[in-house]
Amino acid sequence: MSLSTIEMAYDDLGSGPAVVLLHGYPFDRSMWREQIDFLNANGFRAIAPDLRGLGENRFDGEIATMDNMARDVAALMDELRIDQAVISGLSMGSYVAFELVRLFPSRVPSRVRALVLAGARAQGADEAERKSREEKAQDVLSSGIAPFVEAMLPDLLAPKTLAEKPAVVARVREMILRTDPRGAAAAQRGMAARRDYSGDLSDVNVPTLIIAGREDAVRKPDDAEFIHHGIRNSRLEVIDDAGHLMNMEQSEIFNRLLTDFVELID
Ligand code: MLT
Repeated sequence: MSLSTIEMAYDDLGSGPAVVLLHGYPFDRSMWREQIDFLNANGFRAIAPDLRGLGENRFDGEIATMDNMARDVAALMDELRIDQAVISGLSMGSYVAFELVRLFPSRVPSRVRALVLAGARAQGADEAERKSREEKAQDVLSSGIAPFVEAMLPDLLAPKTLAEKPAVVARVREMILRTDPRGAAAAQRGMAARRDYSGDLSDVNVPTLIIAGREDAVRKPDDAEFIHHGIRNSRLEVIDDAGHLMNMEQSEIFNRLLTDFVELID
């Protein structure tokens, strides 16, 4: 589809109440395959876009901000005539979800019916994180993403996944390898510039499910606890033998948590 500033690729499958699935970095909408199927089978419409610069979503700018990614998602929802949806974001997708909550506070009905935050973190980037992200952006621009993939996998996946789920490992590897270096660099810079969402947590007034992978080395269960304490109406679930890509690693458990949660929302 065409939007004013970017070409946005997305899946829009099934019918029923809408659930928008926002992927992490450096991934794409294909990471939600199992969730899309399960949501559809349980009477939900699932919309999964590729975020700015990632997957099939081409973007030539130097920085893809979380704010712009959220505006792209809002424009897509308008295009698809979706007033309200459960917004589910994993990691970078959770930053975009926080932006969606913040951007349209006075809209009635709110675009965000409920939130699912997986592998999430509310705190913003400090100086060291910003520097490291800029170095990573430069590295990926000069060398491509392939030299970095094998070193990323042990951070992204739980030991059990690495040892026992070769199909998941292969899917994650292929997904990362498909990432356009310019999009990867732009997203790194966008994440470096992201807001600190800690102060926004007490304003979140929609039902919220927080999911953490017990073995997540990127966004630890402590990050999830922090969000849980900040959001009044929230529930926290920690999945065993799951790392950062918990929805792919333990898809049956993740699907059940997600679907039980959305089924309870009236
Ligand atoms: C992600 O999975 O989206 C990234 O790990 C997010 C980040 O680097 O902060």
